[in-house]
Amino acid sequence: MALTYLITGASSGIGEALALAYGARGANLVLAARDEAALERVAKGCESLGGKALVVKTDVGDPSQCDALVQKAIERFSSLDVVVNNAGISMWSRFDQITDISIFERLMRVNYLGTAYVTHYALPHLKKSRGLLVGISSLTGKTGVPTRSAYGATKHAMQGLLDAIRIEVKDEGVGVLVVSPGFVKTDIRAKALGPDGKATSASPREEDDAATMSLEECTSIIVRAIDHRKREVVMTAKAKVGLFAKLIAPNLVDRIAARAVKEKQK
Ligand SMILES: NC(=O)c1ccc[n+]([C@@H]2O[C@H](COP(=O)([O-])OP(=O)(O)OC[C@H]3O[C@@H](n4cnc5c(N)ncnc54)[C@H](OP(=O)(O)O)[C@@H]3O)[C@@H](O)[C@H]2O)c1
Repeated sequence: MALTYLITGASSGIGEALALAYGARGANLVLAARDEAALERVAKGCESLGGKALVVKTDVGDPSQCDALVQKAIERFSSLDVVVNNAGISMWSRFDQITDISIFERLMRVNYLGTAYVTHYALPHLKKSRGLLVGISSLTGKTGVPTRSAYGATKHAMQGLLDAIRIEVKDEGVGVLVVSPGFVKTDIRAKALGPDGKATSASPREEDDAATMSLEECTSIIVRAIDHRKREVVMTAKAKVGLFAKLIAPNLVDRIAARAVKEKQK
């Protein structure tokens, strides 16, 4: 029987690529994001590959919309096997240059609370299917990264939330996977909020392709981790070494993070 995957942030980037990967396996897909036209385009792509897709326009920052999302998913497909909390927005500014402090609340609402809300409504169904709960976090959820204070805080929060839930639901057969990518080639940086709370394209990483993972590689790593019900994926070898190094030489890891970002705003 086809598995059912609910993916938030499925209108572009990593979420879209995951949806198409599971569409090609003939899966049932529940696609959530705010841009309904983009979701319809992704749904068509999934269906042309052999999957079945349900589009649910959803702002994950609104708990009642997350409730409706899960209800519609169950009405259409009866069960949920994998829930991927992928919806996210980013920011790009030194903390001391932020002029619109509301970006902290805006990012927390989508990246962290959105994950908590969707998980709250989806978890009873994952318990029934002994399914898998997934969070697409970030390396900024593992260590401090300059210019990403608000964003990194949301990803640290997401990691803490999912780590706690993993322990709580282990005996009920639900797995919890946290994925921490580094830089991946998507449009996230073009939409990132700048110091004034407006979208900026100030990221210095756009030009630096060598340090940016392709969307295809990122997607195939996530699909493999979901297939194997892993608990954690830290996406680059350098980052894995860095996380060990942080235990004995945290200042060195800070310097590596600073260099990786190449602060423009100094
Ligand atoms: N790209 C990277 O370098 C990178 C690195 C580490 C982690 N990540 C994480 O990967 C995830 C996907 O990012 P991406 O790189 O694929 O970026 P993306 O192409 O910008 O995708 C972000 C997705 O989130 C959705 N979204 C934003 N606000 C939302 C809201 N309020 N409600 C529902 N959906 C919302 C967007 O759809 P709508 O605008 O249609 O709502 C879009 O589908 C994010 O959680 C991000 O933090 C990305």
